[in-house]
Amino acid sequence: MAQAFPDDPYLSGFWAPFGAEIDAPDLVVEGELPDSLNGTFFRNGPDPAYAPKPGNKYHVFDGDGMIYALHLENGKASLKNRWVKTDKLKLEQEAGRRLFGVFGNPAFNDPTVNPMQYNTANTHIWPHAGKLYALMEGCPPIEIDPENLETVGSETYGGAVAGPFTAHPKNDYETGEMFAFGYAAKGPASTDIRYNVVDKDRKISKTEWLSQPYASMMHDFFLTENYVIFPCLPVTLDLMRAMQGGPMAAWDDTKFAAFGVMPRYGSGEDVKWIEVDPTFMFHCANAYEADGKLHVEVAGTKRAPLMPSADGSPPPVMDARQLLTRWTMGTDGETSDFKETVLGDLDMQFPRIDDRLTGRPYDYVYTNVASPGESGRTDGFDNYARYDIRDGSIDVYVPEEKTVFGEGVFVPRSPDAPGNDGHVLVFGWNKERNVSDFYVFSADDIGGGPVAKVNIPFRVPGGFHCSWMDAA
Ligand SMILES: [Fe+2]
Repeated sequence: MAQAFPDDPYLSGFWAPFGAEIDAPDLVVEGELPDSLNGTFFRNGPDPAYAPKPGNKYHVFDGDGMIYALHLENGKASLKNRWVKTDKLKLEQEAGRRLFGVFGNPAFNDPTVNPMQYNTANTHIWPHAGKLYALMEGCPPIEIDPENLETVGSETYGGAVAGPFTAHPKNDYETGEMFAFGYAAKGPASTDIRYNVVDKDRKISKTEWLSQPYASMMHDFFLTENYVIFPCLPVTLDLMRAMQGGPMAAWDDTKFAAFGVMPRYGSGEDVKWIEVDPTFMFHCANAYEADGKLHVEVAGTKRAPLMPSADGSPPPVMDARQLLTRWTMGTDGETSDFKETVLGDLDMQFPRIDDRLTGRPYDYVYTNVASPGESGRTDGFDNYARYDIRDGSIDVYVPEEKTVFGEGVFVPRSPDAPGNDGHVLVFGWNKERNVSDFYVFSADDIGGGPVAKVNIPFRVPGGFHCSWMDAA
């Protein structure tokens, strides 16, 4: 018999484990779904099947991956959700309890599961070359069948990707390639990074190795037309700290931040590191080249949210607000070139763009934001917005009832529609009625409110990242 979950803000309310796999075949739609939307919106997020082991504290990054698929076809909407059937989850379901320590820390694992690879597959759901993958940065991708959400199995690209693989690869929509990396790639807390290019036929066309200045948690990275940029930011990884019961990953602002700039088809020996004052982001909106410089727009902050300090103490919430920020740097490793410009003043969480413009100049960022002066971590990201990065202007939707938005996805009106001509899709949890809706905004009028809303008769819990796959 499964045990009750302990008290924890990320095990209650919006984030309470859902614990069920459901098929909702034909949902009520308010307004009219655009004809151009035929396909599926996928979202991944943590849904712990079992309570943490005694003495372990839950972390929201550590739940079992659960995929939600909102399918739109000929004006009708349906929803299903399935756990990613990882080896970890299957073993724990057989045992009827949690076998792994938090984050798979071997010091707390049931001895029967060592030295198994620890994969929750809970972070992103990412398409490449017709396939769909559940991603968690410590392990190879897990292929998911987009039709029925069945777990197909690990994708190691013929053994080339046996270990860590980012949850934030970048697809180049002109070449069909996927650019990816894995950090701590030669063991926990190692500084080694493996960089991969996967071609349009899903073959590894490039593998390079490089080393970051210190062992940091590298959650995202940046791609431009000619470069990749590896951000080494002050959330440090420390195996000794973890073995002594402290956090494996912790904020340490005695460390500098560094950006490793490398030609995207270059070698690990070409990387030039630019060291700057401590700064942080979990998520990048986009990166591009202009005026002979590299420009990167991120949800930037001076204190990493959600990550404890080395002594285990939580971050001060208001210090960990994330604001739309531009980092500008050169390609030659010159530190004096680096510039940080804050473009927005609302706490934001998940910036997305018209993915077809990845690595190229673009104009708009779509993101969930908190009301002015508030923190999304305490109050929820209760508005949805489009930022114009040219002047920092913002078009914000403020719902009538208290709602918490997750990550949105931009879907073009057609594959060759101009940039930003299309719709933005996002789940919103209605806090007052404890049910969720699926919002469809016209991308050029977010503030005008959704053109259609799919009513979901239950709560879709808090989650992380999402993608769209067209039916075609
Ligand atoms: Fe992420």
